[in-house]
Amino acid sequence: MAPAPLVVVADPIDPTAIEALRAGPCRVVDASGAPAELGRHLAEAWGLVVRSRTKVTAELLAQAPQLSLVARAGVGLDNVDVAAARARGIRVVNTPQSATVSVAELTIAFYLLLVRDLLPSIGATRAGRWERSTRGHELAGRTVGFVGYGRIAREVARRLGPFGVRTIAYDPYVKESGDATELRELDALLAEADIVSVHAALTPENRHLLDARAIARMRPGAYLVNVARGALVDEAAVAEALRSGHLAGAALDVFEHEPPTDSPVLADPHVVPTPHLGASTEEGQRRAGRDVVAEVLRALGEGAAARAPAGAGVP
Ligand code: MLT
Repeated sequence: MAPAPLVVVADPIDPTAIEALRAGPCRVVDASGAPAELGRHLAEAWGLVVRSRTKVTAELLAQAPQLSLVARAGVGLDNVDVAAARARGIRVVNTPQSATVSVAELTIAFYLLLVRDLLPSIGATRAGRWERSTRGHELAGRTVGFVGYGRIAREVARRLGPFGVRTIAYDPYVKESGDATELRELDALLAEADIVSVHAALTPENRHLLDARAIARMRPGAYLVNVARGALVDEAAVAEALRSGHLAGAALDVFEHEPPTDSPVLADPHVVPTPHLGASTEEGQRRAGRDVVAEVLRALGEGAAARAPAGAGVP
């Protein structure tokens, strides 16, 4: 009898997901603790589970001649060469709903940190200084402009209602918002928003969508928040706009190169930098693990049905 299909888990995912996979009709190798050994396991892999660390390039796929499935525990697929996978007939799946609430909540935390200008006060208080003057403002009455109006931005907009915030959005793929958010062209949004909040998927077309030209169109004293993908924003242009005082602050959970060892924004005191942890909550990761396992088990079930001779399983 042929051995059960091998599922290789390349990146750390929720431990309950590994247990659930092990209970399924497959063999499981958890290679997340030993990335150097991934290549050895790929030779026999039927399925590959990744989060963000593993870059599923055409070269990596070439090491996996039996691969049928790439499953990403997360939303974005920019670390997977989807075209190369499809050309080989490899199915690519993700967990589009798992991080929505976690990322939406982080986004709102960023708005409040920035608008109240809390970072300098936190630093001063820690350092033993009692400095009660601040450049802080209220969030109420402000306009948030979403660049990209998908699941996460919509969740943020819904949660902003009680804050008394007006919402506008730019999204070339959305013709009607279907809610209170008004759609705008990008330049109009940049000119109107007090906070520009980036939520678009990264594509080859929109790298540095927020470049020096776009940032110059933002309102003087505006804030920039990016919880999507680092390459959507030109970090050097952000650093310059902060230095000149054109932008009042920025919160960046994502960077063009991660980890961002030499990003020019890191040194600016009005930047809130976090290490791509939008989806990193207990709840978000449990959901991502549960959803990715469901996708793997579904594909295993379909594969088994396709392999079974006609009439098999019929009593
Ligand atoms: C996502 O695309 O969902 C996030 O980047 C997930 C993650 O943090 O791994």
